[in-house]
Amino acid sequence: MTLARPLLLGATLLLAACDGSPRGPGNVTRESSNTGFPAADRPVATIVSSRWSSEEERDRLNEAAKVMDLAGIKPGMTVADIGAGEGYYTIRLGQRVGAKGRVVAEDIVPDYISQLATRVVREKLDNVSVRLGLPADPRLPENSFDRVLMVHMYHEIESPYEFLWRLRPSLAPGGQVVVVDADRPTENHGTPPALLKCEFAAVGYKQVSIRPMASAGGYMAVFEASGGRPEPETIRACKSGAHAPTVTPKPNGAHE
Ligand SMILES: C[S@@+](CC[C@H](N)C(=O)[O-])C[C@H]1O[C@@H](n2cnc3c(N)ncnc32)[C@H](O)[C@@H]1O
Repeated sequence: MTLARPLLLGATLLLAACDGSPRGPGNVTRESSNTGFPAADRPVATIVSSRWSSEEERDRLNEAAKVMDLAGIKPGMTVADIGAGEGYYTIRLGQRVGAKGRVVAEDIVPDYISQLATRVVREKLDNVSVRLGLPADPRLPENSFDRVLMVHMYHEIESPYEFLWRLRPSLAPGGQVVVVDADRPTENHGTPPALLKCEFAAVGYKQVSIRPMASAGGYMAVFEASGGRPEPETIRACKSGAHAPTVTPKPNGAHE
């Protein structure tokens, strides 16, 4: 009896994190962690799926269109989809930015990347390219992206400070990083907003907005590079107690 409730809760959170896609993460290439960057001072979620939820359900809630509208994603823009998984956002981003825009979809699981590449070809999205990254380095070209999307994946980055540090040069002038995640502990496949803000700030990003996004299962936060990029040795990890909620959902989804 006493075990039943925690087990049920764990199963519910896992389903909310991955919607039962049966594919596991496969062989992820890992690099040495001896890089001078601090480790995350909180749990890191394991990779359990290539998608957050089914595409039918997400389109029923108009998720991608709302996130893209609020992120200001327009035809002609260059956008990265980090942790692209099955490509729910990749496909819709490719359609939104159009022939004059460009989308780079990145993930660290080779199987996910090869299946997404097949999907992109099948859907004839000539403006989308797909690439394999490393857990601590998305390997994106410098000075390139108007928007970088990280949807339901931040809590799975095992070295968030190094990852964000290496991501920063890829932003074009005025470029923004858009994070969508659930407001719950990282071990339960979410990121508390205060913790997210603290970890981005530690690497030299300022938060420019945050709003509840019920249709995307949590909140949407937007960041820009601010000031210089700190030396890795000077970065201090945020305490896992940086958990105070900063987003209060409004009834009727007034913020979306
Ligand atoms: C729950 S899925 C979400 C996929 C997609 N963004 C969506 O909204 O459906 C999380 C994805 O992030 C990827 N991921 C985890 N850590 C990553 C990292 N350090 N860099 C890039 N992708 C990562 C996983 O392989 C997985 O495909």
